[in-house]
Amino acid sequence: MQVKIDRKNCIVTGANSGIGYAAAEGLASCGATVYLICRNKERGEAALSKIQSATGNTNVHLEVLDLSSQSEIKSFVSRFASKDIPVHVLVNNAGLLETKRVTTSEGFEMNFAVNVLGTYTMTELMLPLLEKAAPDAKVITVSSGGMYTVPLTTDLQYSDEKFDGVVQYARNKRVQKFSSKGGTYRKVG
Ligand SMILES: NC(=O)c1ccc[n+]([C@@H]2O[C@H](COP(=O)([O-])OP(=O)(O)OC[C@H]3O[C@@H](n4cnc5c(N)ncnc54)[C@H](OP(=O)(O)O)[C@@H]3O)[C@@H](O)[C@H]2O)c1
Repeated sequence: MQVKIDRKNCIVTGANSGIGYAAAEGLASCGATVYLICRNKERGEAALSKIQSATGNTNVHLEVLDLSSQSEIKSFVSRFASKDIPVHVLVNNAGLLETKRVTTSEGFEMNFAVNVLGTYTMTELMLPLLEKAAPDAKVITVSSGGMYTVPLTTDLQYSDEKFDGVVQYARNKRVQKFSSKGGTYRKVG
């Protein structure tokens, strides 16, 4: 049975490939207005045009944004908030596994910056717009079964021991699970 969700506004991060692309296309095929958050303009535009032609839904929009940057997230949310529309669904899907210890220009370890800080900041700053859609709003964070391989740690930026990107990814996914607060959070993956 095809569910129609016209007039619902959905944001999907990391929407140009993989699970994010499939989620965005699925939401668009149900009639939702979908905002694709992608860090690369060309890959984002390719996904946008593919989703529009596959679904016939022209209410699909691209927002270019690097989730490793706190300042980009803040300016995106402030621009987006000026539309004054409710956000019914936020899909925190973008994820990264960087094997080397790289830091962002803001000084955060890269995996942590995208998977934890980026996800958390997007969600926190979107809360007023999600509240406009209450009681329907949902935040879906795409975690990973990989989290079960590690316990929670307080060394969030992996600075106390020799860096291992796979372990850091698993730690980040573990933190995603525990950083949900209230509301309807659903773990996937
Ligand atoms: N595939 C699996 O088996 C699996 C299993 C468990 C959980 N997951 C989780 O599922 C989610 C999606 O993964 P996937 O398998 O679909 O992988 P994917 O195809 O590599 O998708 C990851 C998406 O995140 C985007 N992204 C990465 N860093 C970003 C940043 N700084 N700013 C904005 N976007 C960024 C990527 O953009 P670019 O294309 O520009 O890199 C890409 O669109 C991730 O959270 C992953 O941890 C996947």
